[in-house]
Amino acid sequence: MGILKTTVVGLLGACCLALCGCAWLMREKPAEQTDPRFKDYPPEQKKNWLLTENRCSKCHDIDRTFESMWMMDNRRDIEAMVEDMADRKGAGITKPEQVQIADFLDYYRTNPKTAE
Ligand code: HEC
Repeated sequence: MGILKTTVVGLLGACCLALCGCAWLMREKPAEQTDPRFKDYPPEQKKNWLLTENRCSKCHDIDRTFESMWMMDNRRDIEAMVEDMADRKGAGITKPEQVQIADFLDYYRTNPKTAE
């Protein structure tokens, strides 16, 4: 390998590392670390919370979900919204997961101030 080629390959590698590093720094922090309510949630809902973050941050920010909670009047509204999202192409959310997510969001909606 010539010196030029080595330099180019090295530079590309460095750029790659820098980009990955940036993406890593900018990634969203899980609620576990940022939401003081998380620690007060019952174990079952903690599990559902993490699942929700995992499944519902694939196509957009998870905040979108939490910010929409004021529009939800009851569990049925939440179920309809979750179903709508799960029906989207590539969502990859199974039926049982939809139930878990709706469980959590309904709990979240009705226990807004668990921590304080
Ligand atoms: C396959 C991609 C995908 C996944 C997975 C997904 N969403 Fe969405 N979601 C979208 C798109 C695209 C929009 C914006 C377009 C729209 O509003 O129809 C959206 C919009 C929303 C909105 C705003 C709707 C509104 O009326 O403003 C909410 C709330 C939401 N998603 C919640 C969720 C929840 C909760 C989950 C997990 C169960 C989820 N999303 C998973 C694609 C997805």
